Amino acid sequence: MPNESIESSDNNRGVGSTSIGVDNILVATQLKKYYPIRRGFNPLSREKAQFVRAVDDVSLTVPRGKTMAILGESGCGKTTLARAITMLTPLTSGHITFDGKTINPRINPSFLYRGMQMVFQDPDSSLDPRLRVRDIVAEPCRGLLHLSKEDIDSMVMRSIKAVGLSPEHADRLPGHLSGGQKQRVAIARAISTQPKLVILDEPTSALDASVQAQILNLLLDLQKNYNLTYILITHNISVAEYMSDYLVVMYAGNVVEYGPSELVISKPRHPYTISLIASAPIPNPWKRNLLNTEIKGEVPSAINPPSGCKFNPRCPYAQSVCSETAPELREVQSGQFASCHFVEKTA
Ligand SMILES: Nc1ncnc2c1ncn2[C@@H]1O[C@H](COP(=O)(O)OP(=O)(O)OP(=O)(O)O)[C@@H](O)[C@H]1O
Ligand code: SF4
Ligand SMILES: [Mg+2]
Repeated sequence: MPNESIESSDNNRGVGSTSIGVDNILVATQLKKYYPIRRGFNPLSREKAQFVRAVDDVSLTVPRGKTMAILGESGCGKTTLARAITMLTPLTSGHITFDGKTINPRINPSFLYRGMQMVFQDPDSSLDPRLRVRDIVAEPCRGLLHLSKEDIDSMVMRSIKAVGLSPEHADRLPGHLSGGQKQRVAIARAISTQPKLVILDEPTSALDASVQAQILNLLLDLQKNYNLTYILITHNISVAEYMSDYLVVMYAGNVVEYGPSELVISKPRHPYTISLIASAPIPNPWKRNLLNTEIKGEVPSAINPPSGCKFNPRCPYAQSVCSETAPELREVQSGQFASCHFVEKTA
């Protein structure tokens, strides 16, 4: 439901494949998620309502069968965006179509969650410790598919096998599994309904580096075998580079750069992306984690963000126009978009 009382920053028009003939499984247009700040109840208060602008006008198109990585520092709105796409949190405004159908609160949840599933960062909190693996994996099938018990059992065992677990794991509790095995269970649950799109929110960041590589390779195999589309949220540039076809860079609730991953990583054009990539060249590529990066200046407030370009207080290229006018995303070379007034200077 659009909230007309909220000021719009409207600087972030569509990124993604707009090419004719490209089959986009997800089209998200001008998504906003503003969380109201509650300061105690006072109906007579004349104070202007305030909001956390977690997602502040994001548009994306995700081509079927591909992986779109979303990269950005902590608090930039990645999880909120994923939760809004999956309707786990209601949008403030914006429009989403998934597999040709508009997603809104009236949509049939069976259609939505058969087609779209999510894997969360921490399996310890996303798996019910009291349920056996077979029941965890069966949960979405039981809720969404009208099948016999035998059919559900066979779907469950197929998913368990597909993620590299053996039938004997089916009767264990999560507490009797390693971190990597738990994440395999979370993935088995996500693919059990044979979805088309899986949103992976930091799926390996809680795991050791060796296990991380195994899980990433498993995800690549599953994508090929099941023709899955992924939205992969990550802090890690190497993970984004290894896994994704397209890369979206978010800053303070906005998309600031977008394009084919190889191009954005090898030739970033937005000053923020340039800083991220420059601050992450450490010897072990699997540790190129944005949580460890240090970009000069403070992360902007999500409640009172800087005017104009939100990156202007930290940007080495900033000029006076940058604090006055928010830049629009524009194509800087074939398929690569950046929102910066002075993007020519970064060529
Ligand atoms: N339920 C909520 N109520 C109020 N503010 C929230 C809520 N959830 C998230 N936020 C705020 O929205 C902003 C974006 O949060 P979000 O969790 O989407 O970031 P993120 O990019 O996923 O961060 P991280 O990388 O740490 O997971 C942050 O300022 C956060 O504090
Ligand atoms: S618009 Fe200005 S402040 Fe923003 S990234 Fe470009 S140069 Fe920097
Ligand atoms: Mg998050």
